[in-house]
Amino acid sequence: MISLEKASHPIKGDVFVPGDKSISHRSIMFGALSEGTTEITGFLESADCLSTIDCFKKMGILIDHTIRPTNGVPTITVHGKGLYGLRQPSSTLYTGNSGTTTRLMSGILAAQPFDTMITGDQSIEKRPMERIIKPLTQMGASVSSAMGNGCAPLYIKGGQKLHGISYRSPVASAQVKSCIILAGLYANGETVVYEPALSRNHTEIMLSAFGADIHNEVARDGSSAAILTPGMPLKGIRVNVPGDISSAAYFIAAALLVPGSELLIRNVGVNNTRSGILSVLKKMGADITLINVDESQEPRADILVRYSHLHGNENDIFEIGGKDIPTMIDELPVVAVLASQAECDTIIKDAAELKIKESNRIDTVVENLKAMGCDIVATDDGMVIHGGKPLHGADIKSHNDHRLAMSFAVAALIAEGTTRILDSECVGISYPSFFKDLQNLL
Ligand code: S3P
Repeated sequence: MISLEKASHPIKGDVFVPGDKSISHRSIMFGALSEGTTEITGFLESADCLSTIDCFKKMGILIDHTIRPTNGVPTITVHGKGLYGLRQPSSTLYTGNSGTTTRLMSGILAAQPFDTMITGDQSIEKRPMERIIKPLTQMGASVSSAMGNGCAPLYIKGGQKLHGISYRSPVASAQVKSCIILAGLYANGETVVYEPALSRNHTEIMLSAFGADIHNEVARDGSSAAILTPGMPLKGIRVNVPGDISSAAYFIAAALLVPGSELLIRNVGVNNTRSGILSVLKKMGADITLINVDESQEPRADILVRYSHLHGNENDIFEIGGKDIPTMIDELPVVAVLASQAECDTIIKDAAELKIKESNRIDTVVENLKAMGCDIVATDDGMVIHGGKPLHGADIKSHNDHRLAMSFAVAALIAEGTTRILDSECVGISYPSFFKDLQNLL
């Protein structure tokens, strides 16, 4: 539990956020499946990414932390063993709270010559795995829910011959897409995953850098395809992980909300499949500027944010939905906090996926914002936030959801009185030093 008070002065200065979680997971996974070593700098050392490391260690992959002799930079080195180098773990693979580890790893395991069990914590054991079981089964894999409820633990029977498929995913989900693509690395023939909108494309960008033949095609209507032709060996590379825009989002929100603030958040990944929060908030009047933009494959920039009044259209309404949703899915809780102070009604729609994240984020966001005095209602696929009412301190139930805990720590900065975040240590899932970094700015 942590107690926070209203900020007594503007947030000024600059801050670095830890490495991108999605890219960190993938750098370990793809490094393990590559020939040669992969050196990772900027790796996110949080509980979720450590779960990924742990799973690969259990399958015989050597992964070590070193300090690069040339420049003293902390580096994770993955000693890859190629696509066919994993060995059977002696026990169930445990993925903790990490959906990314569970789903991506299942795609890899489905293609191995050995059997495995994979599961995670209580939250993971409630999250839907049917969305990966179905396409993996179509590829010829043998994956089943041990309890028969479509959730983990998953029993994955090895030694199956996989074939490539063309799969139309009903949801824009990078975890589903990446799971299928990873199994596709081992399949006969091409694998194509269609999605209604392009979800984060780190798997495509990074696998291509590791040597795979993979690319995206995006249609005029925004729907997209990831196309993999297997057969190329993966080769170890150097990965420099940018800061996580999902972590930066809390500081962006804090600077927008606390009067007089001006904050520079350095070296943040701004891949446009992830940066929907920036474009959407700018449309609401947020003063956000990107500087020092580095247009590498995974683009990065410093983000300058100044205190702003957020607003809607001429009818005082702002709608967030459609293809913007996958590009800001993890940021919607903190966007809801921002919307509580906007001079408009904000309608978040097309976001039913929020219900199956680390918590049911429609219910948990609405419950906690209501507790702080916000006029907000849950809908089937999102929420409607009647902005403009001042917030007051409350006891926040994080439900062990890291993004809830951090979003409401930001809300606390503008709330009258004390806000207590229960189970606040869950921030360790993605951002272990969050409260320390926040405190340093206050
Ligand atoms: C992730 C994809 C998203 C996101 C999650 C990380 C990834 O999940 O919410 O935090 O690294 O692929 P979905 O694919 O379920 O939308």
